[in-house]
Amino acid sequence: MTQRVALVTGASRGIGKAIAEQLGKDGARLLVPSRKEMDLLSNRSIDTYIDALTEPVDILINDAGINRVEDFASYPDRDLEETLQTNLISPIRLTRGLIPGMLRRKYGRIVNVSSIWSIISKPGRLPYSVTKSGLNAFTRSLAVEVAPYNILVNAVAPGYVNTELTRQNNTEQDLDNIRKTIPMQRLAEPEEIARLVSFLCSEENTYLTGQCLLIDGGYTCQ
Ligand SMILES: NC(=O)c1ccc[n+]([C@@H]2O[C@H](COP(=O)([O-])OP(=O)(O)OC[C@H]3O[C@@H](n4cnc5c(N)ncnc54)[C@H](OP(=O)(O)O)[C@@H]3O)[C@@H](O)[C@H]2O)c1
Repeated sequence: MTQRVALVTGASRGIGKAIAEQLGKDGARLLVPSRKEMDLLSNRSIDTYIDALTEPVDILINDAGINRVEDFASYPDRDLEETLQTNLISPIRLTRGLIPGMLRRKYGRIVNVSSIWSIISKPGRLPYSVTKSGLNAFTRSLAVEVAPYNILVNAVAPGYVNTELTRQNNTEQDLDNIRKTIPMQRLAEPEEIARLVSFLCSEENTYLTGQCLLIDGGYTCQ
């Protein structure tokens, strides 16, 4: 990936941080905007960040996401709006801002970080599941539109990953029980997700596009 510029959202911690570190090792030049530099809750902030870019972005990783677990019947408006904006609207807007440059240069690799909850669901995760299913649809739709321009668009759908987000929504006891339900008997480490993303946005990937790859230790196969 030498000479390629990669923009990774959500790179301050967790999966996004591991992806940025992996792409850095692969030789990409990194753009890792903090929330202060580009707040995904604000479309104006996204547009301002795109307008201020001085270098072409070849690789885009839409990683940032939130998961507020609450019953649907009493799901607060604010959480609903913030989940839709962060997980679905912001990746679409950011990608729309960067795609014209990729079309001009006839090169691009885009990876959206989805979730197993885009395919299956669990109580309390309705808005999250809606946004991640939407992200899969966005991935497929964009992939077919831009494929003639050598732009490959994929999604990865992790299961349970050892990050702050997982610990925010599950107690230690929950995690012990969850481990027993995963065929691999453990959570994924962020670096394991990062290695898959690295392949998808490398020049080794020449034909795989429009897919949502589940990486969940076999969880959804049961
Ligand atoms: N952890 C899992 O088990 C799991 C499983 C499947 C899918 N995923 C998906 O993987 C992605 C990363 O998850 P994670 O577990 O690594 O999450 P995490 O540890 O909670 O990190 C989330 C990242 O998103 C950023 N972010 C959130 N809201 C933002 C905003 N408004 N503007 C800018 N940045 C914002 C955070 O930045 P700040 O530091 O500024 O808050 C942080 O860098 C998410 O899309 C999540 O849905 C996670």
